[in-house]
Amino acid sequence: MANASGHFSPSIPSLRKRNNPPCIGIYRYGFPSAEGISKRVFCSSTIQGAEVSPSQSRVPRLISKGCKLVGCGSAVPNLKVSNDDLAKIVDTSDEWISVRTGIHNRYVLTSNDSLTALAAEAAQKALQMAEVDPDDVDLVLLCTSTPEDLFGSATQIQKALGCKNNPLAYDITAACSGFLLGLVSAACYIRGGGFSNVLVIGADALSRYVDWTDRGTCILFGDAAGAVLVQACNSEEDGLFGFDMHSDGDGLRNLNAPIVENEVDRTLGSNGSVLGFPPRRSSYSCIQMKGNEVFRFAVRCVPQSVESSLQKAGLTASSIDWLLLHQANQRILDAVATRLEVPPERVISNLANYGNTSAASIPLALDEAVRGGKVKSGDTIAAAGFGAGLTWGSAIVRWR
Ligand code: ACO
Repeated sequence: MANASGHFSPSIPSLRKRNNPPCIGIYRYGFPSAEGISKRVFCSSTIQGAEVSPSQSRVPRLISKGCKLVGCGSAVPNLKVSNDDLAKIVDTSDEWISVRTGIHNRYVLTSNDSLTALAAEAAQKALQMAEVDPDDVDLVLLCTSTPEDLFGSATQIQKALGCKNNPLAYDITAACSGFLLGLVSAACYIRGGGFSNVLVIGADALSRYVDWTDRGTCILFGDAAGAVLVQACNSEEDGLFGFDMHSDGDGLRNLNAPIVENEVDRTLGSNGSVLGFPPRRSSYSCIQMKGNEVFRFAVRCVPQSVESSLQKAGLTASSIDWLLLHQANQRILDAVATRLEVPPERVISNLANYGNTSAASIPLALDEAVRGGKVKSGDTIAAAGFGAGLTWGSAIVRWR
């Protein structure tokens, strides 16, 4: 069983309490042995008690470089939709939505708006905070499940930012876990690939794939973009202490938006000889979700993932400054925090104003907390994402 996920060489601040001191030397300079990890992670989104092997870190353990989060930014559309607005189109109420989810408002793109522009705005703000010139960006990762082009939208953000050196830009699709995956990918590029400035953007417009007649899903989602600039630094300043990532394709049945063939497609005829050719055009269906299954998956798997990341980082939940979860449902945030014994005042929550913004939710909440003076330089954050795929994961990071 592989068991080396997320073991970068953490330069753990001395004030942090380590929960596994004998292993630190191994973590820092080599491949951990099987004995180096005291606990295996057991988690399944679908089958209680089934075993999922810890994800593998494929980055070199012998590293000379670290990476740190040095800037953040976010943007939301102009159109604000309240619970009362929703109650006018589906059979629901402000009270039901508030009590069951904690959500009061969300922002939604109109047909004139562009998600790519929103993402570029968030990225621009992150660059400004980091004081990094667009020309010095050498990778743009757009984490999204709702690009505005089949082939991805990352290159359009690179263009909008005016990066003159043609840095690599591509999309990552991992639903609400997308930003976490982007963050870990950025670290891999920096540690193993010699990259210096990586923009990780989480942006989604799930409103375009919501069935606005389905009260079970349409109340949850909002659109937004958030971005973080991850920068190379020396290993002593390293700000990614540990991570843990998983997926479970079996759980897709609980949350999906599959491709469907268009019923009527007058533009295509048949060639009369080959059955089923040419194929009909396709599009994605609306989001289909078994909410209570996803809820159960989240409250079971997310705490295990955070505990795993903390263990790899040599930290305990009591030593983190902030718990920053994907903003799906306040009840999920509360349940995970209770399980990890993190008090409510150390849980970052802004979903009341934005709903579930998918890949944008973590950088959006981080940006708000940083600009609001809540998260300060040097703070340690346990971040976790979860969602369609199913995918889930966590990372322990330091802000600046
Ligand atoms: N208004 C009023 N009543 C409603 C509404 C609504 N909007 N939605 C459902 N109900 C009703 C149901 O019909 C049901 O009625 P019944 O008892 O008569 O059958 C009752 O309320 C309870 O329904 P549940 O679905 O059991 O309600 P629950 O407490 O589970 O809340 C919710 C539903 C909010 C969707 C919750 O399950 C949830 O948040 N799940 C997690 C979703 C999530 O986190 N997704 C993240 C991933 S998203 C991504 O990756 C793209």
